[in-house]
Order: sequence, then C-alpha cells, then structure tokens
Amino acid sequence: MIPPCREQFDIPNDVAYLNCAYMSPLPRAARVAGEEGIRLKSSPWELTSDSFFATTERTRSLFAQLAHATADDIAIIPAVSYGTAVAAANLPVARGQNIVVLAEQFPSNIYPWVDRARDVGAEVDYVPRPADHDWTAAVLERIRAKTAIVSLPAVHWADGTAIDLVAVRRRTDEVGAALVLDLAQSLGAMPFDVREVRPDFMVAPTYKWLLGPYSMGFLYVDPKWHGGRPLEQSWIARAGSEDFAGLVEYRDEYQPGARRYDMGERSNFALMPVVETALQQILDWGIPEIYAALGDRNRALVERTEPFGFEVVPERFRGAHYLGLRRPAGLPDDLVPQLAAKGVYVSRRGACLRITQHLYNTDADADRLLDALRTTSLP
Ligand SMILES: Cc1ncc(COP(=O)(O)O)c(C=O)c1O
Repeated sequence: MIPPCREQFDIPNDVAYLNCAYMSPLPRAARVAGEEGIRLKSSPWELTSDSFFATTERTRSLFAQLAHATADDIAIIPAVSYGTAVAAANLPVARGQNIVVLAEQFPSNIYPWVDRARDVGAEVDYVPRPADHDWTAAVLERIRAKTAIVSLPAVHWADGTAIDLVAVRRRTDEVGAALVLDLAQSLGAMPFDVREVRPDFMVAPTYKWLLGPYSMGFLYVDPKWHGGRPLEQSWIARAGSEDFAGLVEYRDEYQPGARRYDMGERSNFALMPVVETALQQILDWGIPEIYAALGDRNRALVERTEPFGFEVVPERFRGAHYLGLRRPAGLPDDLVPQLAAKGVYVSRRGACLRITQHLYNTDADADRLLDALRTTSLP
C-alpha cells in the first residue's frame, strides 16, 4: 500500500486535477531540485564535470531500472517525435513493404512513418479500432510478410485501450518486422519490461506518467541498433568528451551503447535533476503498486459514473490507469470548460472524456467530479 501523498504535490484542495495523461504536476521535491539547478546556472563557477556527466548518468540508470534495461541501452532525448525520428532513420523499410500503426495514434508516432514510407515507396497501414475492443487481435491479423515495422503505444491515448505487446513481438518475430513503441501514456504507471517485449526502439517523454518536466525524455535502443546513425552529431556523444581540453582531437568513436543518440546539450542543469528526483520517487513507490492503486481508484470511479450514462472500454482490454468515458448520447462541446469552471480538470480526446488520476488524487477529487457532472446538463 502506498501511503497518501497529496501533500508531496502543490495541488490546492479545491482543484480536482484528473489529467495526468495531458501533463503531470511535478512532485514538490522535483521542483526544488529544478530550482537548485536554475540557481547553479546563475553561478556557473560552481558547475563541475558532475553537472555534465554524473547527474545524466544517474538519471539514465534510473530510467533503465524503470524499464528493466541497462543504462547502455538508453539515450536522452527531448520528445517522442525525436525518438521516433531516430527509429525511422535507422530501421530498414523498402518499396512495397508496410508500416503498421493504430488508427488515430498520436501524431508524433505517425508523421515520421508517413515520411519514411513516402521516401521509399512503402505504405502506412492504420489498423482501425475494432468494435469488440480487442485491438491486439486486429493488429496481429494485420502484420503480414510485407510488414517491415510495427509502431505502437501500450495504450491508446484517447481511451486507454491496451495492446498486448508481448503477443505483437511474437508476431513481428515471425515475419521479421521491427517493433517501435511510444510509451508516453503508460511508462511509469503501467508495468513494462524490455526483456519480455524486446522492442527495437522504445520512447517515453517525462512530462506525463513519469511525473517529470516538459522537454525531456528517453529512448531505449536494442543493442542491435547501437551502431546506428544519430540525428545530430553532438560533441558530448563522442568518446572522450569528458576531457574538455581535448575536444578538438576529433574522434570517430562515440560514447558507449545508445549514448550516441543523446540530444545536443542533454546535460540540462535545470531539468535533469528534476527528472532524477521524479524517477527516484516512482521507483520508491513501485510501478506495480502505482498501477494497482490507480486501478482501484478508476474502478470506483467507473461505478459512480455509470448512472450518468458513461461507458468505458472493459478493463481486460484497457490500461487500468486510464479512463476514456463515452456516452452513446454524446458529450456537450463545452463540457471540459464547464467542468474546469467547477475546479475539475480533465481532457476531451475524440468522443471521450479522458480522466487520468494519479496518486495525488483523493476521494474528494472524485466527489468533486461527480458533483460537477450532477450540475452539468448532459444530452
Ligand atoms: C501517445 C503520445 N505520444 C506522444 C505524446 C507527446 O509527443 P511529443 O513528445 O513528441 O510532443 C503524447 C502527448 O499527448 C501522447 O499522448
């Protein structure tokens, strides 16, 4: 059991923030670490080689731990779009082959594939949402001999419909396709193990379920792609970059493993300590424990929203940390601002009212949502 932790965040009591899938709040300790990082930049004479290397390496290791990888498999990147661009630049795909994705998948995991497919004369195959919620079966059926790449999330960003990634990996192995994952909407809250799924590339930004800052993220790279081509050629990604005096002894070799894919200026003095503190907090709570706690919270909420005519994807087809509420009669266009006016913060994604709680949420937040729905006119 994780003890109540609302007080570890700066969320006023009259705010029901149910929107982690949009943007998490920072834990207070992470904000303090960031303030110290900003202060350090104001006194650069205090910067040490730790500021460039040690903090980054500790943070890389924490992310590796979360995904059951090793630090050598992890690159530091700014956004999902960057990670998928690295994957698209390095994975082979040829004329007549296809790239399998979900319908209405998040654009940062669509545009790089559309571009790459156009460049080589391949096709992007969008697997439609199935009426029976079993998107895994639909994806498995669409992976064919001509499939070069399958690029997926663990849960769909609109309503949390889950994909069984182990089953997908098994199928991609059968046809010799690569597997790329965007875990923006699951890593940190839903258990994931690279040793079981064995993706070729996997990306996650820190600003949602990793409770970290905007503009930071990670890319897992399977060792078979460690020798690939980075998007940029940063000095710090080259071997020996720790020796500032020797930087113009230009080197062909890179830092070991996936570090060659690190973004330029990855040693962000303000943001890296925020990421480090947030990841340590998640590891201290434990991802299986977080997932179980959010599942309990969401189950209780589903029961309470049923009388309003809301329906959700059944839990066996959904990430338990995620809710996308649909009403057969539809939703008012201004529902999100109406709820916000009552101190309830959620998102609308397509036909869904997306409700994503985290450990900082309390029963009082759920009560506030229910009270707000009661006083809102629904069709
Ligand atoms: C599934 C998914 N991927 C990626 C992102 C963010 O992408 P980027 O980091 O490229 O801005 C989001 C943001 O909502 C998302 O829901």
